[in-house]
Amino acid sequence: TFVPRAILVTGGAGFIGSNFITHFMAANPGCRVVNLDILTYAGNLKNLVGVEKSPDYRFVRGDICNAELVRELLAEERIEAVVHFAAESHVDRSITGPEIFVRTNVLGTQVLLEESRRHREAKAVERFRFLHVSTDEVYGTLGETGYFTEETPLAPNSPYSASKAGSDLIVRAYSETYGFPALITRCSNNYGPYQFPEKLIPLMIHNIVANKPLPVYGDGRNVRDWLHVKDHSSAIETVLKGGKPGEVFNIGGNNEWFNIDIVQLLCDLLDERLGRPKGESRGLITFVKDRLGHDRRYAISAAKIKRELGWEPSYTFERGIAETVDWYLANGAWVEEVTSGAYRDYYEKQYGGE
Ligand code: NAD
Ligand code: DAU
Repeated sequence: TFVPRAILVTGGAGFIGSNFITHFMAANPGCRVVNLDILTYAGNLKNLVGVEKSPDYRFVRGDICNAELVRELLAEERIEAVVHFAAESHVDRSITGPEIFVRTNVLGTQVLLEESRRHREAKAVERFRFLHVSTDEVYGTLGETGYFTEETPLAPNSPYSASKAGSDLIVRAYSETYGFPALITRCSNNYGPYQFPEKLIPLMIHNIVANKPLPVYGDGRNVRDWLHVKDHSSAIETVLKGGKPGEVFNIGGNNEWFNIDIVQLLCDLLDERLGRPKGESRGLITFVKDRLGHDRRYAISAAKIKRELGWEPSYTFERGIAETVDWYLANGAWVEEVTSGAYRDYYEKQYGGE
């Protein structure tokens, strides 16, 4: 097993990156963790309350496209592994403004790879790994049956997924061309605490609480495969420590849902907690215009990571979704903060004013 002494996490103030840092630092005391994040609308240092005082933790506000900064950090901190989350991550935003997706996701990844390759080749450290956090969306869409495996050809459909596929291919090229020790993970949809309320689950929770319409795209029969963010974090740690460089690992929990069923479930859970009559919140469901190029179904085969590395999810969806609803109810101040200002502008543009 590869157990690094110092890691650089990019995008560690976002939803998954912050959950990963919290998980990783608890599981690996003594390992230095440097978090490089530019703090876009999606990055929030309040996501890291549990770790920010640790002497092993350092936050640096900066851009992954800044080669000089990346070079300095790798050398100064004697970084042995990069865990790369930083990205523009929201499909709807990529439809209205694709440029930043190419810049951050493609060019940013290339800068990190190039600086990491030089750092490693300069023998600044004895060992090195680069873990690129990617997504099942690079595989495109499935019909009613079948699963994405690591051999499924890449066929991205949105500017977001195309930019992620582009970054995956550059990672692959570094591995094939330079023998650079890179790993790629491709995970299904995550849910859990600290997810920005532009994504389906927190957006619906937020709107149910506020008694606002629940915008379901198209016929609501698109399928997503949901995994708790803590299970994604443990899978990334497992791949970083045990995965063979050059390989791709899919991550998922065999948990497919129609969007409409998730929305109804959230309505029912919240009716109970808010003391509303059973079925009341379902009245807020509103079918709206479909997302352009909307992928119909995602479903991950996570057979390889289970077979080769013994990883399995620990959350049942029943437990994970109930805990998530409770977390959002208990963290109204966090939601309030991230949904003020810029969020309101985004929301009005995406869904129209009220
Ligand atoms: P997020 O949008 O919540 O967070 C992204 C973070 O990256 C933010 O903190 C942001 O400030 C930072 N960032 C953006 N541009 C940057 C730049 N130029 N330099 C430094 N930092 C920058 O995203 P997330 O949902 O946590 O996703 C994290 C990663 O996981 C992404 O690469 C995404 O593609 C991948 N992924 C997400 C999911 C999911 O369901 N959310 C599933 C599979 C894979
Ligand atoms: O599959 C992994 C991907 O999951 C990640 O790579 C992305 O970063 C992440 O954003 C997510 O992409 P999706 O497009 O699947 O997630 P989103 O939460 O945006 O939408 C989930 C489904 O719900 C999708 O079919 C669109 C639908 N939807 C979404 C929103 C925001 C609605 O019906 N209404 C909405 O308001």
